[in-house]
Amino acid sequence: MKHKIAIIGFGTVGQGITEILLEKKEELKKKYKFEYDIVAIADFTYGNVYNPKGLDMPKMLKEAKAKKKFSKDNVKLNTIQLIEKCNATVVCELTYTDLKTGKPAVDHVKAALSSGKHVVTSNKGPAALKYLEMKKIADKKKVKFLIEGTVVAGTPILNLIEGPLAGCEITAIKGILNGTTNYMLTEMEKGMDYKAVLRVAQDLGYAEADPTGDVEGHDARGKVCILGNVVMGVPMKIDEIDCKGITKITAADIKTAKEKGCRWKLIGSIEKVKGGKIKASVSPQMVELTHPLAGVMGAKNALTFTTDLLGDITIVGPGAGRKETGFAILTDLLRINSGM
Ligand SMILES: NC(=O)c1ccc[n+]([C@@H]2O[C@H](COP(=O)([O-])OP(=O)(O)OC[C@H]3O[C@@H](n4cnc5c(N)ncnc54)[C@H](OP(=O)(O)O)[C@@H]3O)[C@@H](O)[C@H]2O)c1
Repeated sequence: MKHKIAIIGFGTVGQGITEILLEKKEELKKKYKFEYDIVAIADFTYGNVYNPKGLDMPKMLKEAKAKKKFSKDNVKLNTIQLIEKCNATVVCELTYTDLKTGKPAVDHVKAALSSGKHVVTSNKGPAALKYLEMKKIADKKKVKFLIEGTVVAGTPILNLIEGPLAGCEITAIKGILNGTTNYMLTEMEKGMDYKAVLRVAQDLGYAEADPTGDVEGHDARGKVCILGNVVMGVPMKIDEIDCKGITKITAADIKTAKEKGCRWKLIGSIEKVKGGKIKASVSPQMVELTHPLAGVMGAKNALTFTTDLLGDITIVGPGAGRKETGFAILTDLLRINSGM
């Protein structure tokens, strides 16, 4: 099947998925009968471009890497107009995440779904804040709203549950959902204090200049909210989830955990409780060293699913990165290609 793709936000992930599609063009055609043209890109930095027959993607990538504005196929349409008017069959929403309002991504996703286009996104905003609303529009328009990249990048989580784990009931999920804080806790165990380790994490590009989203647990809470709505199927709002970050963890706390045969981890957890309800939270927890999550060190992410038929299943993998998140977008594009 030949897909016409629009990319909204041509930053790390937008360029990552483009590189993967270019590198694997022949393999995707041969193995999965997946053919594509990237017909539109909207980006604040590089401009908005559209060619219904397909853009010259190697040229677009070269210009973006050189931090130059796009020089071909420029259009005067704003992002929403471009999404609505272009001939794309799939829109990849890859602009920045805002976990308070979800904007501008929510408007992009709504415009795409309402105009009958599938949406694939790694943006937590629309998934954590408006999943059910977006899914309703998608169902009405008979298109897909796919969000694998919103939780732990390309490490398969949502597709794992809907695919290989279909038929199992998931009764609880417990996970390390934020790589920055896991890196910081790992380094604190080696003897660094919180402030010093935060500076190193910022120098390495793990933590942003304003680290609040990571260290206060807000990023992990967004992912817990997505898991609650999508995996557990229970409508929940992000601000209903108890959330505590790692800012108060001290060297003394690290020592106490060690003495108890445990290790601190920032854990996002969701558990089914009586009455069809779920209990969800984000908090630093002392995890026993025998638990698979305790061995997950550095910037890695991991989730343990408690299931009725298989017991506990743990998956460990990268939670961020250009190719890693680009891969999440590819897996959702392939699901659309296969007709799910
Ligand atoms: N990078 C990762 O490893 C990773 C992992 C998991 C999930 N994600 C999520 O994936 C999404 C993309 O991440 P990223 O790392 O690629 O971000 P990024 O590098 O900051 O790229 C986002 C791009 O979107 C552009 N943009 C912002 N608002 C726009 C608008 N209204 N219309 C058109 N373009 C707009 C930005 O332009 P300006 O820079 O000029 O604003 C920027 O070029 C985010 O929601 C992020 O949370 C990323």
